[in-house]
Amino acid sequence: MPSFTVPPVVTFVLLLILASTATACTEHDKHSLLGFLAELSRDGGLAMSWRDNGTDCCEWEGITCNEDGAVTKVSLGSKGLEGRISPSLADLTSLLHVNLSYNSFFGGLPRELMSSGSTIVLDVSFSRLNGPLPELPSLVTTDRPLQVLNISSNQLGSEFPSATWKMMKNLIALNASNNSFTGYMPSSLCIGSPSLTLLDLCYNQLSGDIPTTLGDCSKLKVLKVGHNNLNGTLPVEIFRATLLEYLSFPNNGLQGELDGAQMVKLSNLLTLDLGGNNFSGNIPESIGQLRRLEELHLGNNNMSGKLPSTLSNCKNLKTIDLKINNFNGDIGKVNFATLQNLKSLDLMRNNLSGVLPESIYSCSNLTALRLSVNHFHGEISLRIGNLKHLSFLSLVRNSFTNITKTLHALKSCRNISTLLIGRNFMNEAMPQDEVIDGFQNLQYLSVHDCSLTGKIPIWLSKLTNLKILGVYSNQLTGPMPSWINSLNHLFHLNVSNNSLTGEIIITLMQMPMFKSDKAGIYSEQGLLDLGVITYATDLSPLQYRIGSTWPKVLNLGKNKFTGVIPQEIGHLKALLYLNLSSNNFYGEIPQTIGNLTNLQRLDLSNNHLTGEIPASLQTLHFLSEFNISNNDLEGPIPTTGQLSTFQASTFNGNPKLCSSLLLNHCDLVEAPPISIISAKQCSNKVIFVIAFGVFFAVGVLYDQLVLFRYFG
Ligand SMILES: *[C@@H]1O[C@H](CO)[C@@H](O)[C@H](O)[C@H]1NC(C)=O
Ligand SMILES: *[C@@H]1O[C@H](CO)[C@@H](O)[C@H](O)[C@H]1NC(C)=O
Ligand SMILES: *[C@@H]1O[C@H](CO)[C@@H](O)[C@H](O)[C@H]1NC(C)=O
Ligand SMILES: *[C@@H]1O[C@H](CO)[C@@H](O)[C@H](O)[C@H]1NC(C)=O
Ligand SMILES: *[C@@H]1O[C@H](CO)[C@@H](O)[C@H](O)[C@H]1NC(C)=O
Ligand SMILES: *[C@@H]1O[C@H](CO)[C@@H](O)[C@H](O)[C@H]1NC(C)=O
Ligand SMILES: *[C@@H]1O[C@H](CO)[C@@H](O)[C@H](O)[C@H]1NC(C)=O
Ligand SMILES: *[C@@H]1O[C@H](CO)[C@@H](O)[C@H](O)[C@H]1NC(C)=O
Ligand SMILES: *[C@@H]1O[C@H](CO)[C@@H](O)[C@H](O)[C@H]1NC(C)=O
Ligand SMILES: *[C@@H]1O[C@H](CO)[C@@H](O)[C@H](O)[C@H]1NC(C)=O
Ligand SMILES: *[C@@H]1O[C@H](CO)[C@@H](O)[C@H](O)[C@H]1NC(C)=O
Ligand SMILES: *[C@@H]1O[C@H](CO)[C@@H](O)[C@H](O)[C@H]1NC(C)=O
Repeated sequence: MPSFTVPPVVTFVLLLILASTATACTEHDKHSLLGFLAELSRDGGLAMSWRDNGTDCCEWEGITCNEDGAVTKVSLGSKGLEGRISPSLADLTSLLHVNLSYNSFFGGLPRELMSSGSTIVLDVSFSRLNGPLPELPSLVTTDRPLQVLNISSNQLGSEFPSATWKMMKNLIALNASNNSFTGYMPSSLCIGSPSLTLLDLCYNQLSGDIPTTLGDCSKLKVLKVGHNNLNGTLPVEIFRATLLEYLSFPNNGLQGELDGAQMVKLSNLLTLDLGGNNFSGNIPESIGQLRRLEELHLGNNNMSGKLPSTLSNCKNLKTIDLKINNFNGDIGKVNFATLQNLKSLDLMRNNLSGVLPESIYSCSNLTALRLSVNHFHGEISLRIGNLKHLSFLSLVRNSFTNITKTLHALKSCRNISTLLIGRNFMNEAMPQDEVIDGFQNLQYLSVHDCSLTGKIPIWLSKLTNLKILGVYSNQLTGPMPSWINSLNHLFHLNVSNNSLTGEIIITLMQMPMFKSDKAGIYSEQGLLDLGVITYATDLSPLQYRIGSTWPKVLNLGKNKFTGVIPQEIGHLKALLYLNLSSNNFYGEIPQTIGNLTNLQRLDLSNNHLTGEIPASLQTLHFLSEFNISNNDLEGPIPTTGQLSTFQASTFNGNPKLCSSLLLNHCDLVEAPPISIISAKQCSNKVIFVIAFGVFFAVGVLYDQLVLFRYFG
């Protein structure tokens, strides 16, 4: 038999024909897909790609078919699609899987797609959908096959459907978070969908009670309904959902006590997050039986009592957040040494007392420790140096003693970047000549309100990464140290309310960050939620931020500085806030202050300044707070421009100042001319001011909600 070989090209063509006949799509399905395409106003090149890939729609980009040539999968996530989602997709009768996430649709999700008789996965998250989510008509009586519905991060609104879920017996995962749904949490969820494993309704506007029927969710593992307006209590029925791993209802209006006898049933819990509600009562002893627990968030509630010793049994805990409650007493009963996985412990603003238990120094993975605003006392043990991962430590507003020992102990914490220890160590001496080194990574140091005596210590000059330094409200004496400009990253310096003396040194006028446009970035890596925006309403201790960008601040107020304000002050162009008030400065206000065009707050009050108000100040278009009262200034108060917008109190206590509006009339009537800034410069700055203004309003709000300004 003569053998012959088939040329490879022929084989290839044969295969191609075979292959395409095997999967060639049906005319019906192709028509449906083209119907989908037709409704798009922008297709991100999809039409071209489909056209170039021939008539077999099974070969089209993002399309998958089964052996019969029926479309089973449409995967068109992140394709830059715009327009409406056409209901014609629902005509694909074998369609199992639809992924249209990360596009820019408008309009809603077609009802036909939700009620499809074939689709099991529907993902339209992050796709800018708006309008209501269609409620399925009750005439749809047969169960829908849908298992996964992800409609999260859209702009869907109106009442969240309730009856729909009765037809969703197969639903496993429902993520509707980050929309604007109103109404109640549906009570039919698990009755209709006994397989439900994941339910995420966070970041909506749902109200009313948590439905008791959630107890029927025997498969539920993830339940997240934080950031809504729910009220009422945590129903006992919920504890029947014993597979729960995430029970998360933060930032609602829930109240009541945690039921210890019930809670133990949730032995699979990994995360318990009930922060930001109005829960009361104590943490039940039985919490120790939640052996898998990793995250415990009960912060911002109204809870009280002692921390139970059984907390030590939750050996997997990584995060304990109990801030802003009324927990009281000693925490010594908790053996922190067993919590080897603990990374973040936040006990801020409670009524805790006693000395810190030794066991806390054995929590070797601790990254963030916040003990501020309590009644702890005693010394910090040298053993704190064992906490090699510690990055954030706040002791603010307790009664700790021995600052020298504390700093010596902490210098071994190589990773520390934020150290807030103000309102402790009352009337002690600022450690001076000791060899305090280490702190290589320290970015934020605050030692305020301690009435510490001594000078600004030389060891600070070694903190070369320091960005924010607050030593205000102590009794520090001596001059401003000349090495200050060696702190290359420092952009927020507050030494106010001390007894510092001498003149404004020239090196202070050479601070790199005050001169440069480079943003003052400070972001905390310590895993704490530092979302409290704080600032002081009086001008002295200023502590505020916009995201991770902080304003550049130089505050020398309330000291005994003297001399003239140097011309070189005009170099500090990046400053947003300059406070030289309540010192003994004399001479004229330098014209060069007008070069600080970013200034929003300027306080020169309570000095002995003489001469006229410099005309250059009219160029400070962003000034929103300005005070030159109680000096010895003379001449006219401007009647036009920025400076004319401030109240009389701004100028008070300067008997030689005159104004057409004051009793003290001027001989010269004309105010100095106002300079004009270019339109471009203006619009940029206006945007910034608006951003800053919004931030400031939020700050005020927070201040009133949180009622104290020590977020440290
Ligand atoms: C479809 O056509 C485009 C050209 O428009 C090409 O880049 C792409 O690789 C083709 N896709 C398939 C699956 O053949
Ligand atoms: C949809 O696609 C995105 C990527 O574009 C992916 O992250 C997501 O997991 C997919 N959804 C489903 C349900 O598979
Ligand atoms: C939508 O949710 C499903 C189920 O949780 C998930 O598998 C999918 O990855 C999510 N989609 C995106 C884009 O994250
Ligand atoms: C739900 O979707 C959002 C994004 O929209 C995501 O951040 C969140 O983790 C998802 N929820 C769950 C439980 O997977
Ligand atoms: C919420 O959705 C918007 C888009 O609508 C998105 O930019 C944002 O990242 C989402 N937030 C979360 C927490 O997923
Ligand atoms: C819960 O909120 C609803 C409205 O959302 C209100 O009618 C009801 O009085 C509230 N219940 C409680 C106990 O505050
Ligand atoms: C918090 O709950 C208590 C009852 O425990 C109630 O008296 C109080 O009004 C609630 N506070 C708020 C702000 O809802
Ligand atoms: C906190 O709980 C107490 C009772 O323990 C109650 O009298 C008080 O009103 C609650 N505070 C708030 C702000 O709800
Ligand atoms: C603080 O705790 C002490 C007991 O340690 C208690 O006597 C006092 O009343 C508590 N204060 C507040 C405001 O709850
Ligand atoms: C600290 O955490 C790491 C994981 O981040 C873990 O591998 C290690 O075992 C923990 N340390 C201790 C002492 O448990
Ligand atoms: C502070 O602690 C150090 C070291 O333990 C000790 O020598 C010193 O006496 C203490 N100072 C005060 C004022 O207690
Ligand atoms: C700073 O201000 C002085 C006086 O107002 C002015 O002469 C000078 O040009 C300004 N310098 C810069 C760089 O703007």
